[in-house]
Amino acid sequence: MKKINKIPKNKIKAAIIGMGIGQKHFEAINNYKGSKVLLICEKDKKKILKLKKKYPKINITENEYEIYKNKEINLVSIASYDEDHYSQIIKSIKHNKNLIIEKPMCLKLGQLKKINKLLSQKKNLYLLSNLVLRVNSRFLYFKKIINRNKVYYLEADYDWGRVHKLYEWRANQKNYSITLGAAIHMIDLAMWLLNDRPTSVIAFGNNNATIRTKFKKLSFAVYIFKFPNNTILKVTANSASVHDHFHHLKIYENKNSYVNSYLGSYSFNSQKKYFKIKQNYPDKKNRKNLIRNFLDNIIQNKKQEFSFKNQIDLMSACFFADRSMNSGREIKIKYLYK
Ligand SMILES: NC(=O)c1ccc[n+]([C@@H]2O[C@H](COP(=O)([O-])OP(=O)(O)OC[C@H]3O[C@@H](n4cnc5c(N)ncnc54)[C@H](O)[C@@H]3O)[C@@H](O)[C@H]2O)c1
Repeated sequence: MKKINKIPKNKIKAAIIGMGIGQKHFEAINNYKGSKVLLICEKDKKKILKLKKKYPKINITENEYEIYKNKEINLVSIASYDEDHYSQIIKSIKHNKNLIIEKPMCLKLGQLKKINKLLSQKKNLYLLSNLVLRVNSRFLYFKKIINRNKVYYLEADYDWGRVHKLYEWRANQKNYSITLGAAIHMIDLAMWLLNDRPTSVIAFGNNNATIRTKFKKLSFAVYIFKFPNNTILKVTANSASVHDHFHHLKIYENKNSYVNSYLGSYSFNSQKKYFKIKQNYPDKKNRKNLIRNFLDNIIQNKKQEFSFKNQIDLMSACFFADRSMNSGREIKIKYLYK
């Protein structure tokens, strides 16, 4: 879909909802090429007091309707809890705001369909899901050097290593999903590297590591995805792992292999020679580039590399992975787009 947004540089006026990871959204947006955050919406009263001291010139509110009714605001950056994303997206679209949305965009396939329908009718609005591995220097390098047509197997394992996070708000969300909360990063990474989308999925999970805790959902899951040319992708999401936060990756071609492991990152060739890959990881300082590239797209009215269709495809793959988890069977993924 050709976008026809006409927001000149220095005319991005943003609001942020939720100041956990939202703080990073703030840092990426505020003062970038003249963009300004006009309003922060936060519902934690203690945090509000701190924010007022830190940003005395920025309006801070508990009431998200302040955002929608403000005609000057043309971008809403949503970093609230997962269950709030859907309704905040719908309200933002209806009030003609561009959107940055933390993963996951929403929690149900029906919600995805509604977002898709509504946004497709708004040719002037852009949306970005904040899947930051796409701007990681090491993974960008992998994308450059692999021959995606030769890849026959890919492994993408997410060690979350921050089990305490499960016991905060995530434990209280009725529809929390480890697929949408964790595995989504690795599924996106693989779809982006292969520039393709899987046709089927089978998934299994357990909560053995968290069984006697207040977190009642699955805390570990494994997924096998098949791609059109028979390439196989295995993903794991391990949210209770005793491990540093890490994104393991192995890519196998017939003549080369590429590895991002905790002990180092290498490429191997068929002469059994290996080469160290030096590009930065975790490369946190570059994470804001995803949002900044998006602001550039809006300002220059340019096509997004992470297109809206790609974002909808990713969400569809995740929803069908959860369906397979519930049924215990391999299932075909149905996409909203051909
Ligand atoms: N892209 C990533 O790598 C990444 C990393 C962490 C979290 N996330 C996502 O970001 C979102 C927030 O997670 P977090 O880790 O920042 O949580 P957090 O608990 O650290 O912070 C969330 C903040 O948002 C506020 N908040 C929540 N709902 C709100 C609402 N409706 N209105 C106003 N304020 C609200 C809370 O009071 C809190 O201050 C989640 O959807 C999560 O999945 C993404």
